[in-house]
Amino acid sequence: MTSQNPELHREIARRRTFAIISHPDAGKTTITEKLLLFGGAIHLAGAVKAKRNQKSATSDWMSIERERGISVSTAVMTFEYRTLQLNLLDTPGHNDFSEDTFRTLTAVDAVLMVIDATKGVELQTKKLLEVCRLKRTPVITFMNKLDLEAMDPLDLLDNLEKELHMACTPMTWPIGGGKEFQGVYDLRDKTVNFYLAADRGHKNERVVLDSLVSPEAKQLIGKHYEQVTGEIELLEGASEPYDQTRFLRGQQTPVFFGSALHNFGVKELLDCFCDLAPGPQPRETVHRVVDADEDSFSGFVFKIQANMDRNHRDRMAFIRIVSGIFRRGMDIYQPRTGKTMAVRNAMTFLARDRSIVEEAYPGDIIGVPNHGTIRIADTFTQGENLQFTGVPSFAPELFRRVRLRDPMKQKQLQKGLTEVCEEGAAQLFRPLIGSEWIVGAVGTLQFDVIVARLREEYNVDAVFEGLALQVCRWVACKDAAVQKKLEDSATRDLFTDGHGNLCLLTETRFRADYIVEKNPGVTLHTTMELHGNK
Ligand code: G4P
Repeated sequence: MTSQNPELHREIARRRTFAIISHPDAGKTTITEKLLLFGGAIHLAGAVKAKRNQKSATSDWMSIERERGISVSTAVMTFEYRTLQLNLLDTPGHNDFSEDTFRTLTAVDAVLMVIDATKGVELQTKKLLEVCRLKRTPVITFMNKLDLEAMDPLDLLDNLEKELHMACTPMTWPIGGGKEFQGVYDLRDKTVNFYLAADRGHKNERVVLDSLVSPEAKQLIGKHYEQVTGEIELLEGASEPYDQTRFLRGQQTPVFFGSALHNFGVKELLDCFCDLAPGPQPRETVHRVVDADEDSFSGFVFKIQANMDRNHRDRMAFIRIVSGIFRRGMDIYQPRTGKTMAVRNAMTFLARDRSIVEEAYPGDIIGVPNHGTIRIADTFTQGENLQFTGVPSFAPELFRRVRLRDPMKQKQLQKGLTEVCEEGAAQLFRPLIGSEWIVGAVGTLQFDVIVARLREEYNVDAVFEGLALQVCRWVACKDAAVQKKLEDSATRDLFTDGHGNLCLLTETRFRADYIVEKNPGVTLHTTMELHGNK
């Protein structure tokens, strides 16, 4: 039921929850830093990276991040801008961690897509955009690195439309490019935002002119003036006008140009993002749609992460609040287990600093310390039996058998593997017969992370060995008799995953097809909705 509580309505209107997607190296970290600077959340350029390095020095697991120059763990960053509270969910850019990224995208209401303008649309961006499209998430685009020899802006738009099959509508337009990148023309309010060259990247000092058609603008822009006015004339006639409905459905993306490094065009992006991006959206459950402005609290877990800070040896379950108000000490109900728990120490995050939450609202992310009782995709409510849908698990493509160097450590190994896999970066499979556990992952890096974490956190020395397995499918059986026949005839190929679901792991797709053919009533699936699992 729609709430009558003005506090809830006011806070919902203030929230914007989003993630940044990009191909590695396109500039996600740099732009995150600039957004935090505008939000006053950090005061020094370089702070995000410095912080990352400083923290990662304390843990072996984190040192994998550092050595390989990638971000393995994700953080939630909250900052204020204008009258809004922005919740930025950081997503790892590395391909091996895409599953984690996919789940994070289920928890946002909008996405900022950063493209390296020297390269155009790259593979990882394409994959991530597919997920946004599935979920109809609105996407705002930032063409970055215009201070380098970038592609022509019109070609960039063309490239985006062709590669991503998405209409685009420019919101700003670059003035000059490469070493002569001078600023952007704002197509919305028709202002010229000219950056002072001497200020490159520091105070973001600008000259703002309220029209392009003036002797002042002509003088300021100099030799690029004719080209810019020509391009803008062309755009105004040819480009698709901004359409709020199409944007909100994920069919059209507003495009901005700039340089994150030099802080050119970022403020225009952020201002427009605040105007266009939607607030907390309704979410579907198995039972009904839940609106943000309902009185009753609800939320779902999209991520579990261990040891973000070595001083707190806990695992954190990240909950996206969908409706109602969370208050410190409140009892929340977990429909999967039927249990209620009082949450006194939920956390909010600024970069990696954490503080105890007193109140949190729809769109917010809270971290709840977890001792193994919370799983990815769990729903929490104030008593209603709901289960949010849409948090997926993907079939892994690589499989390894884990071998202990010290056989006495079997128990610790099982505990470690179970806990690390519960976080969702890799999946654990137990055979129907036998005791050999198998770990499946989407990329090889996860195996290195698991070995490092088993050593560091569980004092277990283990190695992974390759396996001939290549195909993993979740199994659905029409009825119990079909399942029994399958279990009797294909025992060696059957496993259960960490949620107790039946899976088929085989060497070849041919064998999987053969098993299905011999067992009418059996169907195989490559993804698993993580809900309703006991
Ligand atoms: P990512 O998080 O998407 O992986 O990218 P990140 O921000 O780390 O940027 C990747 C590299 O691109 C960095 O250089 C960064 O400084 C540079 N970069 C980002 N935005 C711009 C831009 O607008 N213009 C230019 N010229 N470069 C940009 P690096 O040398 O790899 O790292 P660093 O030593 O500068 O930190």
